[in-house]
Amino acid sequence: MSISETDATWWRQAAVYQIYPRSFADANGDGLGDLPGIRSRIPYLRTLGIDAVWLSPFYPSALADGGYDVDDYRDVDPRLGTLADFDDLVAGLHAAGIRLIVDIVPNHSSNRHEWFVEALASPPGSPARQRYIFRDGLGPNKALPPADWTSAFGGPAWEPVGDGQWYLHYFATEQPDLNWDNREVRDDFLTTLRFWSDRGVDGFRIDVAHGLAKQLDETLPSQADLDATPKSNGGHPLWDRDEVHDIYAEWRTVFDSYSPPRTAVAEAWVESHRIPRYASPESLGQAFNFDLLEANFNADAFRRVVEDNLALAAVSGSSTTWVLSNHDVVRHATRYGLPEPANPKEKHGHAWLLTGGVSPVLDRERGLRRARAATLFELALPGSAYLYQGEELGLHEVADIPAASRQDPAFFRNAGVEIGRDGCRVPLPWTPDRPSFGFGTAPAHLPQPDWFASVSVSVQELDPDSTLALYRRALDLRRRLQTDESLEWIDSPAQVVHFRRPNGWEIVMNFGSEPTDLPAGTLLLSSTRLRHRELPAETTVWLQQGAPSLPLS
Ligand code: NOJ
Repeated sequence: MSISETDATWWRQAAVYQIYPRSFADANGDGLGDLPGIRSRIPYLRTLGIDAVWLSPFYPSALADGGYDVDDYRDVDPRLGTLADFDDLVAGLHAAGIRLIVDIVPNHSSNRHEWFVEALASPPGSPARQRYIFRDGLGPNKALPPADWTSAFGGPAWEPVGDGQWYLHYFATEQPDLNWDNREVRDDFLTTLRFWSDRGVDGFRIDVAHGLAKQLDETLPSQADLDATPKSNGGHPLWDRDEVHDIYAEWRTVFDSYSPPRTAVAEAWVESHRIPRYASPESLGQAFNFDLLEANFNADAFRRVVEDNLALAAVSGSSTTWVLSNHDVVRHATRYGLPEPANPKEKHGHAWLLTGGVSPVLDRERGLRRARAATLFELALPGSAYLYQGEELGLHEVADIPAASRQDPAFFRNAGVEIGRDGCRVPLPWTPDRPSFGFGTAPAHLPQPDWFASVSVSVQELDPDSTLALYRRALDLRRRLQTDESLEWIDSPAQVVHFRRPNGWEIVMNFGSEPTDLPAGTLLLSSTRLRHRELPAETTVWLQQGAPSLPLS
């Protein structure tokens, strides 16, 4: 398998596997995952059958926010390796037929970035401060923040620097927001995009893509004003402003100067009707759609999400993206095993996990059964699928991490109200053995639970019914069955969703808790073992209509 040097559309229906580098594989035995560790697992990635890897930040960082606090956008964290290791990883992935997407974090740098260090050492009004968002404080001695804004991780969003000025950090204190009205900031990111593109990176995942353009007047609005301002028309002072696409138009010229063009996918938490702006070919070209992740396990909800997002993709001409898990949300095997919150939108927040009280109410078996069904549904949809490391093992969220071992700023800034995202970032189990289940030779940087032994890669490789075996078969079939980006709905009972892709590939998902009729067709794959000629509860099957064109694996 090798990658085509000319295929400019590879991303449209790719299966992309997200690696959280510090928790994937540790080659040097320091408890932290690294690039050589990922390199050593390329055979695993190849066997899994993914088309591309998305690497979360691997840049130098104090890890105030899991690496999304970047000290230097054009280097590798020395604990994770070197630029030579990075080049080696690119070469190894490409030789295995796997493309590489890297994370770009443009809304904020870290407070250790040389620009921010220079800004703090420079006087108010200096060019160094103009790369960030500094404002004078209010009141006597400018001792009050310029505005009462709350950060995304809780607590205040403005931090004093001791000379009457304050800086904006919409996320952690260690993540000062960059000023995108500043030409130097814009040029520097163009340099960064070229730097990684020249090293052979195939695409970029853009963090907080909807936040770069801000309209900050002399008098700042209050948090109440911000909350009351609609986010639907491009006029909110902080989010999803129309001008953000002027920035991406410049990026587009960089992407398109390569052959094949570099791709980008926006992480943009915006109202649905605004998504096509990010996904348009003049802007980033593709955008995440988190609707499936937020939907309840329910036939109507899933079907509506698919219809809506295929329609949105048609507006921009892009393909849509499906996501069930990532490094920011409760793993889907766990979400589906807990009682559903009244508001499904709460589901991605880890606060929900706390209030749900994982251990007493979590039905682990049911959660996994539903997760396997939802994954087969996702992998058969037109568009690209973004998978998160560990979901192929059916991993549950790790709930019992002691406070002293937690790392997520969301936990520390919320006084225990928000449990944080560490539970989905625990290093992967490769074997059943301590100290770190084959992750490395030392204990892992986040504590791994005993139950990791039974779900480790080497254990699942011996079990033909394991979740790992299911993902491998599904990804292999998906690659061979891939067809035009469309589907046709087929009438089905209320608890069932049934659709057909143009080549006769049919997908039937039973959301109900009772078995139902299994439609005719050659059975390709099933998320649970079929014992009779019926479709079991909470199960998805793939069928082939017409002459079977595939040897069954
Ligand atoms: C979104 C990232 O996915 C998340 O992990 C991070 O904390 C924020 N952006 C801030 O960079």
